[in-house]
Amino acid sequence: MGKLKIHGGSGLEGSLQVQGAKNSVLPILAASILVRGESLLQNCPDLKDVDAAISILRYLGCSVTRVGSDVHIDSTTLVRRDIPDALMREMRSSVIFLGAILGRAGEAVLSLPGGCELGPRPINLHLDALRALGATLEERGGNIVARAEGCLLGTRINLTSPSVGATENIMLAAVSAEGETVITNAAREPEIVDLQEFLMAAGAKISGAGTSTITIQGGGAKGPVTHRVMPDRIVAATYLSAVAFAGGRLELCGIVPGHIEMVTTLLQTAGCEIETRGQGLTLFSKRRLQAISPVITRPYPGFSTDAQPCLLAASVKSKGTTVFIENIFQNRYRYVEELRRMGADIKLEGRVAVVTGAERLCGTSVSATDLRGGAALIVAALGAEGETVIAEVEHIDRGYDSIETALRALGADIERVDG
Ligand code: EPZ
Repeated sequence: MGKLKIHGGSGLEGSLQVQGAKNSVLPILAASILVRGESLLQNCPDLKDVDAAISILRYLGCSVTRVGSDVHIDSTTLVRRDIPDALMREMRSSVIFLGAILGRAGEAVLSLPGGCELGPRPINLHLDALRALGATLEERGGNIVARAEGCLLGTRINLTSPSVGATENIMLAAVSAEGETVITNAAREPEIVDLQEFLMAAGAKISGAGTSTITIQGGGAKGPVTHRVMPDRIVAATYLSAVAFAGGRLELCGIVPGHIEMVTTLLQTAGCEIETRGQGLTLFSKRRLQAISPVITRPYPGFSTDAQPCLLAASVKSKGTTVFIENIFQNRYRYVEELRRMGADIKLEGRVAVVTGAERLCGTSVSATDLRGGAALIVAALGAEGETVIAEVEHIDRGYDSIETALRALGADIERVDG
């Protein structure tokens, strides 16, 4: 299990190109099952979760080759329609393959995805929606067996909560259905717009992604497609939080500033100067931030739950008190105990975290608890005095492509060590 060793306390300076978005490339890899011929995905990040999705595609019979950040996928011949437990366990969000396999093959067998570090991860909205499209679903020995007798039939589906994964699964199943499907109360995340663009390039007729109502005409996707994955807005938020906390100057390139407006607005309130232009922005941060409050996580375009940990880490020395309210996941504060070991003053009460700005933060040994919680520990270590060693960095490698290389480019004293 790898570790990261960080000596904090010095400012950061430099420019970074932001990697492709993990939460966009995963549903697009699932969507590639619907496309005949060889598709090309550009700007694909090198992540453990992407490796897991590629392993699933290869198990299903697709040929997948990676050349740098280009991933070539040919799904012409599908030989399986199940995902075994071992592959499902490598990545919890593999449930995103359900709609695509069902739409392509008329049947899909997936082992039930368990919970994860963030708490229970129910999929009731996914399953109810597939039933509404005419699929029969049964649980058999820890597996979900989904079947489309004949063909899926387009219908109107209202999501009781704007689930990102459920919205994506419905889009992927409805593309192959007969007739029109309308999703209301759909999730509005930018990654869903990216998925729509991939599917439209493959010949599918979809509109409305990014709004609460998405309309999909059945009839299938043809392809093949060349698609450039959108930039990762959460990775961008992570690097901005790191420089805001450690102090210095960061130029971010290849981003969509509108995707991280909630984060940049909060950082400006905290005292950072931010200049936005085209596909980039520059952040200047003096040493100590002002407290901001409250930070409330909501579905997009609200403040993202995935950006909560790194922004909370950046607030642990702010002048004053910052209140965070986490509305999306039950266990999103597991990393807080690790920040307390560094001297942070954080009180937790259910979904509420109250952060009182500490004078000092001291490096020590900590462990990553999950993907974004692990990234938060890196942010904290960069603004702490002395050495921090972060264990279990495999959590971080799920969503950050060579994070230590990126931060070293900004002058950070960070290295990956074994052990
Ligand atoms: C996606 O997860 C992202 N993952 C998550 O990013 C992100 O935090 C989340 O959306 C919210 O933005 C990927 O895209 C791979 P949801 P997803 O379905 O689709 C409840 C990261 O750090 N719910 O929108 O699983 C659920 O329990 C990850 O990159 C149901 O109750 O999220 C949660 O409370 C973490 N029933 C809420 O909805 C369902 O059937 C939001 O979940 C589905 C979800």
